[in-house]
Amino acid sequence: MQDVDAIVKEALAAFAGIDDADQLEQVKARYLGKSGLLTGLLKRLGKLPAAERPAYGSRINAAKESLEAALNERRESIQARKLDARLKEEALDVTLPGRGLGSGGLHPVSRTLERIETLFRSMGFEVADGPEIETDYYNFTALNQPENHPARSMHDTFYLADGRHLLRTHTSPIQIRYMESHHPPVKIIAPGRVYRVDSDATHSPMFHQIEGLWVDEHITLADLKGVLAEFLRLFFERDDLKVRFRPSFFPFTEPSAEIDMSFGEGWLEMGGAGMVHPNVLKNVNIDSEKYQGFAFGLGPDRLAMLRYGVDDLRLFFENDLRFLKQFN
Ligand code: DAH
Repeated sequence: MQDVDAIVKEALAAFAGIDDADQLEQVKARYLGKSGLLTGLLKRLGKLPAAERPAYGSRINAAKESLEAALNERRESIQARKLDARLKEEALDVTLPGRGLGSGGLHPVSRTLERIETLFRSMGFEVADGPEIETDYYNFTALNQPENHPARSMHDTFYLADGRHLLRTHTSPIQIRYMESHHPPVKIIAPGRVYRVDSDATHSPMFHQIEGLWVDEHITLADLKGVLAEFLRLFFERDDLKVRFRPSFFPFTEPSAEIDMSFGEGWLEMGGAGMVHPNVLKNVNIDSEKYQGFAFGLGPDRLAMLRYGVDDLRLFFENDLRFLKQFN
C-alpha cells in the first residue's frame, strides 16, 4: 500500500506547479477523484486488521483535508493572478495624449444668415420667425393670393395629408403673422427654410429665404432701394456694387420689382420686392391710408454661393464634411 505521506507530498508538489484552473481540477482528480490515489487507499481500508483501521483511516482523512486546503489556496491564487493580469491589461493610461474632440463648426448657410441678421440689425431691423408648416391662409390667401389665383401655380408645394396644411413656399407668411400681433412701425427681417417642388443645380426642394418688411407712415420705394443697396454693399464689401429694379409681379406688393445687382460684369437676380399691397394691410387691420411700406424676399443660399464661390446649391445640403469643413 502506497504511503499516505508520500501521496500527500507528491500531490502538494503537483498542485504548486500548476497555473491553470482547469488543469488544477484535472490533477485534483488524480488524488481525490473516485478512482484517485487517496480514494483507492480508503477502499482498501477493509483489508487491514481491525485494530489498525481507525488510525489508518484518520491518517487518510487528515491527508484529504490537507489536500483540499492546499487546493483551495491554489485556486484562490490562480484566480487572483488572473484578475491582476486583466486589470493590468485593461488599465487606462491617463498619460496618453488625447484623441481630440473634432470640434464642430457652423454651416456656411448658417454663417451667411448670421451675417445677414447682423447687417440688418445694424440698420434697425428686428428678427422675426414663423412656422415651416403653414396654413393655406397665411401662405397664400392673406397675401392677396386667393384660391385659384394663377400665381399660386408658381408655388407648387408639399401638402400635408389633412389638405389644410402645407410646407410654406416662402417666408412671406411671417409678414402676416407679425403684423397681426404688432402695430406699425414694423421693421423686421424673417429668415427661414422654405419648400418647393424643384430640384437642380440652382434649385433645391428645401432652401432659405429672408423676408424683409418695413411699414410706417412715410416709407417709400426710395427707402426700399436704399436699404437693399446698402445691405448688398455691406454684405459683399463692395462700394461699387449697383442695384437695379426690374418691373415684376407679386400678388402681395404693388408695384413689384425683381432686384438685380452687379459688380461690373452682368446682372444677377437677388430676389423680389415691392410696396406692400393695400389688401395685405387690410387683412391685418392696418389702415392703408395712414400706413405704407415695403417688403422684399432674398435668397440667402444664393448670397452664400456668391460670397464663397460655390457653383452648385446642392453641395450645401449633401452634408459632405469635406465640403463643409472648408468654411470653418
Ligand atoms: N415671396 C416671394 C417668393 O418667394 C419673394 C418676395 C417677393 C417676397 C416680393 C417679398 C416681396 O416680400 O415683396 O417668390
